[in-house]
Amino acid sequence: MEPSVKIGVVTVSDRASRGDYEDLGGPAILDYLKEVLSSRWESTYRVIADERPLIEATLRELADTEGCSLIVTTGGTGPAVRDVTPEATEAVADKIMPGFGELMRKVSLEKVPTAILSRQTAVIRGRSLIINLPGQPRAIRECLGAVMPAIPYCIDLLGGPFITTHDEFVKAFRPKK
Ligand code: MTE
Repeated sequence: MEPSVKIGVVTVSDRASRGDYEDLGGPAILDYLKEVLSSRWESTYRVIADERPLIEATLRELADTEGCSLIVTTGGTGPAVRDVTPEATEAVADKIMPGFGELMRKVSLEKVPTAILSRQTAVIRGRSLIINLPGQPRAIRECLGAVMPAIPYCIDLLGGPFITTHDEFVKAFRPKK
């Protein structure tokens, strides 16, 4: 049987980490993955403050110790002083994957003009793909939905488990052999 894929979900938010409000972003990511993935997966979920060293340590731990093939963050991608998720993500990167941010901004700009304020990116660290999503829960579906078709093949190329999706929701693309 194909091993189950480990997925890290990281909410980066001062207020959610303090308990000022309930985190909606992390659960929105998990709900989306539940709907879309047909292969086995397990998740590790963290809610942390907008502190660059803490974000970097969390990403390193999920990639290197937990062995997550995919790590998805939400929050901290805007222009505000405490928004440092893209910097933390790039700091732990072996490779930058600019196509993810480009596509997510393209689809988001069709919905909201403020998408221009999102600095979200994606990177490879070791055998992990790390993707930033904006903090708005409704943006999660739009952005993750846009890049999801590319994720299974990207994980293949990193030597991770073979991921399948429910075709009626998302059709994963893999080049024909
Ligand atoms: N993308 C989509 N699809 N929908 C949105 O509502 N909000 C934008 C942008 N991208 C948004 C979006 C806004 S207002 C900001 S400031 C940036 O994402 C970054 O948000 P973050 O700092 O909460 O990550």
